[in-house]
Amino acid sequence: MREILVTSALPYANGYIHLGHLVEYIQTDIWARAMKAQGHKVTYVCADDAHGTAIMLKAEANGITPEEQIASVKASHEADFAKFLIEFDNYHSTHSPENKHYSELIYRRLNNAGHISTRDVEQLFDPEKQLFLADRFVKGECPECGSADQYGDNCEVCGTTYDATELKNPRSTLSDAAPVLKVSKHYFFDLPEFEQFLKDWTRSDNRLQPSVANKLQEWFDAGLASWDISRDAPYFGFKIPDTPEGEPDKYFYVWLDAPVGYMASFQNLCDKLAGTDNALDFDHYWAQENEHKTEVYHFIGKDIVYFHALFWPAMLAGSEFRTPTGVFAHGFLMVNGEKMSKSRGTFIKAETYAEHLHPEYLRYYFASKLSDKVEDINLDLEDFMQKVNSDLVGKVVNIASRSAGFIVKKYDGMLTEICAEPKLLEDITKTGDEIAAAYENREFARAMRLIMQCADKANEYIDEKKPWTLAKLEGTEQEVQEVCSVAINIFRQLMVYLAPVLPELTANAKAFLNIDDLSFHSRNEWLLGHQINKFKPLMQRIEQKDIEAMVEASKASLGDAQEATQSEEATTTSEADDSAEQTDYIGIEDFAKVEMKVAHVLACDYVEGADKLLQFTLDVGEDKPRNVFSGIRKFYEPEQLMNKKVICVTNLAPRKMKFGLSEGMVLSTGHSKTQLTVVTLPDSCVVGDLLG
Ligand code: MSP
Ligand code: ZN
Repeated sequence: MREILVTSALPYANGYIHLGHLVEYIQTDIWARAMKAQGHKVTYVCADDAHGTAIMLKAEANGITPEEQIASVKASHEADFAKFLIEFDNYHSTHSPENKHYSELIYRRLNNAGHISTRDVEQLFDPEKQLFLADRFVKGECPECGSADQYGDNCEVCGTTYDATELKNPRSTLSDAAPVLKVSKHYFFDLPEFEQFLKDWTRSDNRLQPSVANKLQEWFDAGLASWDISRDAPYFGFKIPDTPEGEPDKYFYVWLDAPVGYMASFQNLCDKLAGTDNALDFDHYWAQENEHKTEVYHFIGKDIVYFHALFWPAMLAGSEFRTPTGVFAHGFLMVNGEKMSKSRGTFIKAETYAEHLHPEYLRYYFASKLSDKVEDINLDLEDFMQKVNSDLVGKVVNIASRSAGFIVKKYDGMLTEICAEPKLLEDITKTGDEIAAAYENREFARAMRLIMQCADKANEYIDEKKPWTLAKLEGTEQEVQEVCSVAINIFRQLMVYLAPVLPELTANAKAFLNIDDLSFHSRNEWLLGHQINKFKPLMQRIEQKDIEAMVEASKASLGDAQEATQSEEATTTSEADDSAEQTDYIGIEDFAKVEMKVAHVLACDYVEGADKLLQFTLDVGEDKPRNVFSGIRKFYEPEQLMNKKVICVTNLAPRKMKFGLSEGMVLSTGHSKTQLTVVTLPDSCVVGDLLG
């Protein structure tokens, strides 16, 4: 028996659970259930990620203590997960004694081994709020192009990335005060010391998906930097222990103690189960010497690979704990082919969904889309309705509803002693091995396809035998019972195969089938001479109106002050954002929104006081020429661009800059830091014509 510990990423305690999160919790839950059904000892733990500035500020805004804030969010997270049938063996919090214990232990071991160092860091500080400002809490003018209102990490207009300290005229978004530069001592974890270890680790034992391993290679090539693990007061988190007497308190950065939360939740479970038959031993799963005796898997989203595949294994190895057996990343959720959007009503809370639609529909739909790849998955609401209705209601449940009635009414619920179609049933029993392997390899889409093929075979068989016609003839008593018994047996196999995805439906089917086991192995014993119970409908069709109501309700919750979980903490490592080279697709409607026109450069000039900009006067076929600033001065002399035909984005919102109004954007290629080439068009192009 394999002993497996599995985790999902810990959701932030400052926001609600939405359908994007559920991709991950449903994926992990299905996997854990499937592995349990195959007879392994599986423990699935999770917790709320409760620390950080964002949570502290949210509590402040709500007029409550951080402890009250995280307690109420935890309760709502647990309620949402229960609705979606996510069956954690334990759900804990990173703000817990167990987490404090292991965070300190790991830190002390790293420190004793010489992996921690300190150095002074100069950072923007809000003099009114009296706190250091993370990048997301500072706005100002882009140092590259001068655009106003840009965040402290990168410019949304010209795409340049920079340090918050480089912003011109910065403002704190918390108080609107002008931040000041302030120096403080920070603690660093020496990641570069682990470079060789990490290179070996990422490439061995199939721990990571190939695309993730490649991404890590890029990070190695770019060079690892030591990691800032401390934050100054005020902060909601754990104090760093053993800091020098008389110095101000320092706190662990939330991402240091967050993954330790996996251990803490597991420890909490060990304590709960101590002395019972199900007792679990912490060291058996986490001690270095047991690395090959037990298995540990982390399911995560592609945005947090950096933390799980670099920092976390290095922290564990440096503190003499075992490292994970595997880290599995998934892509992001799209709805109707686009990023979830509040105004379109596709930013859907778990709670809102559950008010309108059955959670098992979503579990099945996600299963039918998920693979072992780091690909984004699309919830197309039309396809969702059709797929669930045709696969689950039309194919699967239909098998039972078409055959159970005869068995119950005519034969007192008894199935035949002998299977009339052993070949067919053997075939479907055997497919179970492939289905089990597909589950284990996280090829859920493949598993669902195989299951539906089995369902198709059953329906073809019933259609061919037509028990409803047979039942009207004379002397066919036995055949009707035989045909329906075969059908019920196939239905039972399907219930075994679908149990990890549809725990509630299959539990109800279990009662109807009068069986007590849905483990994978159980399917090898067919139901012969067995009595079943009366059939009750197992699933309703999805109605268009329910989907519409859900979308409307999601639009209505738009004004909700609670932002989705994006906190400042997740984005502090900008590399984490493009952790997998996935394309975020836009629909043709989005593309069509961008208006690009052929423009004639009437004038091109330097701008007084701006060493990065050139100023264009462009004829775009309108009554008046347009004024456009572009950050390309480093690469061009103005006369090189005079009289050229270029491409101008004409419906970009005008931007007020220090030097005047910019009324569009000139398209160029290349990377803004190194080289930019303005895209020019042949002279034959007609000014004002649209591109697309
Ligand atoms: N608190 C951190 C994780 C710490 S793990 C030690 C965090 N929290 S989160 O609430 O932002 O996200 C939790 C998980 O949900 C992450 O794995 C994240 O990738 C995933 N998702 C959040 N939004 C998502 C989508 N829109 N689509 C798919 N998964 C998404 O990150
Ligand atoms: Zn800019």
